[in-house]
Amino acid sequence: MNDYTKTIESELVSYLPMGDEYIKTLISSMNYSLTAGGKRVRPMLAIEFAKLCGGSEQAVMPFACAIEMIHTYSLIHDDLPCMDNDDLRRGKPTNHKVFGEAAALLGGSGLLTLAFKTVLSEKAVFLNGYEKCVKAGRLFAECAGVNGMLGGQIIDLESEEKEISVERLRVMDDKKTGALIKASCLAGCISAGADEEKMKAAESYAENIGIAFQIVDDILDVISDTATLGKTVGSDVQNNKSTYVSILGLDECRRLTNILTEAAINSLSVFKENTDALSEFAVYLRDRTK
Ligand code: IPE
Ligand code: IPE
Ligand code: MG
Ligand code: MG
Ligand code: MG
Repeated sequence: MNDYTKTIESELVSYLPMGDEYIKTLISSMNYSLTAGGKRVRPMLAIEFAKLCGGSEQAVMPFACAIEMIHTYSLIHDDLPCMDNDDLRRGKPTNHKVFGEAAALLGGSGLLTLAFKTVLSEKAVFLNGYEKCVKAGRLFAECAGVNGMLGGQIIDLESEEKEISVERLRVMDDKKTGALIKASCLAGCISAGADEEKMKAAESYAENIGIAFQIVDDILDVISDTATLGKTVGSDVQNNKSTYVSILGLDECRRLTNILTEAAINSLSVFKENTDALSEFAVYLRDRTK
């Protein structure tokens, strides 16, 4: 498996706005969460798919960074007292604990808008051309928006203290987590100019690892410890969340993550190129401890 973390992190910082003295708090709030670490799963998926489809790491990088900005914004807002009310993220106090709720709200929104500025930046256009940037921008808006991540988050909040069906659970996780993972994989394909068949395969891979990713997140909330995870364990129980673990139990969750990971790996069979990196990545995501 390739590790692009260092390149991703130095590139991410390069997009952060300078701003003037008057808006220092806002920029510090954005900077704080964006540079707090994290696994950088989504940009890595974008890069791996770009490479698999014959594209370049350099060209996909603005798209990869944009999706990490959107993801980081979603985490800042997810942690707010009106949502999951969490105190720890990426091993550090959550954004609102440091900057206050209003600056966290604005910092998150700042990262969301910065993501679209990045996708449409001169650098992104120079490396990918207008058409691919428009496609990526449209994809990100779709996946982060009401039919994607935001839609999943409202279902999540409205499913607290309830017994929900497995079907609803699946829709919720597809949207709240799967959508941004799909955006990541497809952004790589778009940058590389992949054909329809490859896009479909990437989508199927993403759908499977997307659900598996949220199931593992739910498992870790129960079985991990706060120091390893970098976020407070037991948050889902505390909030009476409906999760795969609360509804199906740990054993069934493990069985499902195996099936989904295998299905994701099988989706890669249409590629004639070497897909080992993405197969290993699916297994790493299943077996992760944080
Ligand atoms: C956490 O995402 C939120 C979910 C969608 C489950 P990650 O587990 O990718 O968080 P970071 O980016 O590594 O902090
Ligand atoms: C978060 O799901 C999904 C997002 C869109 C941010 P969780 O609420 O389970 O994520 P964590 O556990 O706080 O990272
Ligand atoms: Mg949440
Ligand atoms: Mg949460
Ligand atoms: Mg969670």
